[in-house]
Amino acid sequence: MNLSARMRNLLAAIAYFAVAGIAIAYFLINEKFEWIPESALELVREKDLLERPEAKRCADCHTAIYDSWKKSRHSISWTSKTYIEASENRSKEKCLACHIPESVKGEKPSPRMDRRDEGIYCVSCHFIDGKMNGPYDLVAPPHPTYRNPEYVRSNFCGSCHQKTFKEWQATKEEDTCQDCHMPRTRARLTQKMGLNLLHKKKWVGDHRFLHGEISEKDILMETSFQENFFNISLLNKTVPHGVPTADNGDPRLYLYIIFYNSEGEEVDRTKEILAPQQETALPFNKKVDFRYRLFDPVSRVNIELKYQPAWSKEKELVWEKTVQP
Ligand code: HEC
Ligand code: HEC
Ligand code: HEC
Ligand code: HEC
Ligand code: HEC
Repeated sequence: MNLSARMRNLLAAIAYFAVAGIAIAYFLINEKFEWIPESALELVREKDLLERPEAKRCADCHTAIYDSWKKSRHSISWTSKTYIEASENRSKEKCLACHIPESVKGEKPSPRMDRRDEGIYCVSCHFIDGKMNGPYDLVAPPHPTYRNPEYVRSNFCGSCHQKTFKEWQATKEEDTCQDCHMPRTRARLTQKMGLNLLHKKKWVGDHRFLHGEISEKDILMETSFQENFFNISLLNKTVPHGVPTADNGDPRLYLYIIFYNSEGEEVDRTKEILAPQQETALPFNKKVDFRYRLFDPVSRVNIELKYQPAWSKEKELVWEKTVQP
């Protein structure tokens, strides 16, 4: 055998061991991680991850989840303008617990002292007793993890969304907060080169904590004219909590009703405010009736439903309808 043939054999052997090594690592990490000794994991642990680092540090690996979280209201729970106003420039002690929580464990959290600008961040929601708690039984070489079934239960969100949780519980519906507000897609938990290939895809919940959308399929309306009365009934058919719902914010639905005569002139107008702070939010699956006396002959009624989130002064149109006697 000449030298170059030997060289080729050696390279082939190295390539073989490398591929076999990756295959074994892949097998161990995804199928038999309980075989990996703790002492081996100790060698690759990144200790600073257990010292409550900022969210950006988690983004070194969990880049996609970080980008989503950054778009969520949770990431600005301390810096939001409307929060700063409502809490009198963040001076109210009793507001801190849910807006800058130390650690979420299924009950009202305690406030934390450090990194307040991060709001409700990765560490608040995942770091308990020295481990990253989450929905999976898995091995994460850089940090210890712990499978905690609470993460897929509404109770977890109920730690802070206490009123909404009670409303949800009373409906006895099965869909959890996460089902609707963190819909899952099949993806990698990490994007760091190398790690992403060693770990299989899993279900990942959307960390934008989506607001949720309503349309005329969710809020059903019936109207009727009855002598000199006009009736409207609204039914929240699909959302298993009040619409809107809130703990401390003041989100509102506005129902604008404008009456026109046969000449097309406005003869009267009125509005309803549907808001949790006024105890007028639309409860799940229960009709709410409104009745208006007509003083002039009416030939057309225009009805608009508009929504204003807790953090905004802008109203957006949900639907608009015109009805005639
Ligand atoms: C028990 C937990 C909890 C406490 C305590 C709490 N909040 Fe909140 N807060 C929430 C939750 C959950 C939301 C999101 C739902 C909503 O709109 O209410 C929220 C949202 C808000 C919003 C609307 C969002 C925004 O950024 O404008 C404001 C304003 C607000 N809170 C102010 C306060 C103030 C002021 C206090 C203290 C008096 C306070 N909160 C105490 C849980 C809490
Ligand atoms: C150096 C890379 C790296 C960094 C940095 C990192 N992680 Fe991870 N993390 C992983 C890997 C790898 C997994 C497992 C992925 C898999 O199995 O698909 C994981 C899994 C997780 C899980 C799932 C746990 C479970 O049991 O369901 C959570 C939660 C988590 N990490 C939180 C965090 C938080 C919070 C931070 C920041 C404080 C962070 N990670 C920083 C690599 C990292
Ligand atoms: C540590 C307390 C806390 C926990 C736990 C928590 N939230 Fe929140 N959430 C808040 C606060 C505070 C806000 C308001 C932030 C802001 O706008 O200033 C909020 C805002 C939201 C919003 C946006 C509301 C809007 O008006 O658009 C959604 C949706 C939401 N949370 C869903 C969830 C879900 C789902 C869970 C459980 C997986 C959860 N939250 C867990 C405190 C919490
Ligand atoms: C308001 C609490 C909250 C915050 C803040 C939060 N998470 Fe999560 N996280 C959850 C919940 C709940 C789940 C379970 C979602 C599911 O699968 O239904 C989860 C799941 C995960 C998982 C496992 C994959 C999955 O979606 O099931 C990882 C990894 C993770 N989070 C990392 C992070 C990182 C990194 C950050 C910060 C950038 C972060 N989380 C911020 C509540 C939170
Ligand atoms: C079947 C799907 C579904 C489930 C389950 C669900 N929600 Fe919602 N949620 C929505 C929709 C749709 C909206 C938008 C309508 C609205 O504004 O209420 C919404 C709105 C919200 C809002 C924004 C405030 C607002 O304007 O009403 C918060 C906060 C919220 N949900 C929290 C929760 C929490 C916490 C749970 C679990 C206890 C939960 N949701 C369960 C569908 C759902």
